[in-house]
Amino acid sequence: MALAIPAIAQDKVLNLYSSRHYQTDEALYAGFTRQTGIRINRIEAGEDALLARIQSEGERSPADVLITVDAGRLWRAEQMGLFQPVKSAALEARIPASFREPGGHWYGFSMRARVIAYAKARVKADEVPTYESLAEPKWKGRLCVRSSSNVYNLSLMGALIEQLGEAQAEAWAKAVRANMAREPKGGDTDQLKAVAAGECDVAISNHYYYARLARSAQAADRAVAEKVGIVFPNQAGRGAHVNISGAGVLKHAPHRDAAVRFLEYLASDDAQRYFADGNNEWPVVPSVRVVNPVLSAFGAFKYDPINVAVLGRNQPASQKLYDRVAWK
Ligand SMILES: [Fe+2]
Repeated sequence: MALAIPAIAQDKVLNLYSSRHYQTDEALYAGFTRQTGIRINRIEAGEDALLARIQSEGERSPADVLITVDAGRLWRAEQMGLFQPVKSAALEARIPASFREPGGHWYGFSMRARVIAYAKARVKADEVPTYESLAEPKWKGRLCVRSSSNVYNLSLMGALIEQLGEAQAEAWAKAVRANMAREPKGGDTDQLKAVAAGECDVAISNHYYYARLARSAQAADRAVAEKVGIVFPNQAGRGAHVNISGAGVLKHAPHRDAAVRFLEYLASDDAQRYFADGNNEWPVVPSVRVVNPVLSAFGAFKYDPINVAVLGRNQPASQKLYDRVAWK
């Protein structure tokens, strides 16, 4: 009997490896513990560091669940063999099919859009209605965008390859490369700041970097946001390119049942709100609404319905394509 006690105690724990860290985390995780009695141990680190750590821990890894951002990175973890498939009627009912890996290796829990930012003083929104419009010669020397090795740009290219075909996607990348105001540097926030500062007139960014600036306690950040307009591209066609933050159960999870319960919890109404709002993202469960002034101001938009798993599958082709056009 005495031997059984540690085993039972163990089952009341979940080891969560996460590259997300937001103010809403405490409420998010406390809700799970309150509902299930399962305590959460959190290991937080950078995205790629977490993948390397889980891989090196191997069969002895204590990790039950990995939370990270971008389908392209979840796909990398899947390729590394880190996840085990999970089948859950609750997850399938709650999460739209395009936001989960078809084999159940990982699930999306919040949605982000890759948008076009423009200088309100120098550009009109209707000049950049689509990603394709950024390839027009009129933007020569006027466009800022981060490096192609960044997973957000790899996933964007994964979508363009899927929708336009590789030849057209490459022509787009070549033209955008030729339009750059400067060599790619910095993160998405740096591109928004460069637009506000007049270094470029249009840029590509995930929407929540704009939302962070717009909601910042720093007046200088808000001043950047005020100078920048946001376009959700391709509204008359396939819709804006969207991606996810997501999670999966790890192959050697010591607490598999708790891990599946945790994923199901993340799809619940309250958890969806906390998970999405922590980073100014949208819940993936369509019936859940968040109260967020920046997202409300954006309003509803049409998004590209391709399955986000495609973005990962196209990642090797995307990287090669960017290399061919010398988008560093
Ligand atoms: Fe990000």
